[in-house]
Amino acid sequence: MMRIAVLVSGNGSNLQALLDAGLSGEIVGVMSNKADAYALQRAQHANIASVIIEHKAYPDRESFDQVMQQQLLDWQVDLVILAGFMRILSPKFVAQWQGRMLNIHPSLLPAYKGMHTHQRVLHSGERYHGCTVHFVTAELDAGQAIAQAVLEIKPHDTAQSLAQRVHQMEHFIYPQAVEWVCRGDIQFIDQQVHYRGQVLTHPIQFAALH
Ligand code: GRF
Repeated sequence: MMRIAVLVSGNGSNLQALLDAGLSGEIVGVMSNKADAYALQRAQHANIASVIIEHKAYPDRESFDQVMQQQLLDWQVDLVILAGFMRILSPKFVAQWQGRMLNIHPSLLPAYKGMHTHQRVLHSGERYHGCTVHFVTAELDAGQAIAQAVLEIKPHDTAQSLAQRVHQMEHFIYPQAVEWVCRGDIQFIDQQVHYRGQVLTHPIQFAALH
């Protein structure tokens, strides 16, 4: 069974979706860089080990990442899931988890990397928006995509309504993508994503029902 660590900084609704999904992997630990992250309470509720590693306590990114790395090794983690983890990771840390670390981002990558995606998408007058599950590489939000959920932007949408709808889709596609990795349906081989033995040239797409 795959041993999974979830890295969080905030609310942790994606962590909750992963906890509720009944994955065939085991979530063995939750790590937060913020002491007040609500995600920590979710972990406690689910009886899962959690640690707070505050980035502010370390002089630089490398030393912070090294402490995280040691904790992941102690937990004997196979798969690292970033779920609203708001720190950029050092290239060394990312390299150690190549093909074994996933993130979810609230946009249809490669469009709208970075922050404030909902506002930016609205501002640009896009017709579609959504979220992407991808492997993590050293370049921010640029790793190989596994799955995307797409929604159509309605005239009355606001950044808030988009955030809410995108979140709902995240809670569906993230557990699905993680489950594929746990079952070996998704594999990372030679820098490429394979789905059931075939190279995945485009992310697997889901459409919103409303
Ligand atoms: C999500 O919107 C995710 O796409 C982004 O951070 C947010 C995390 O939300 N990476 P939550 O903490 O899981 O509720």
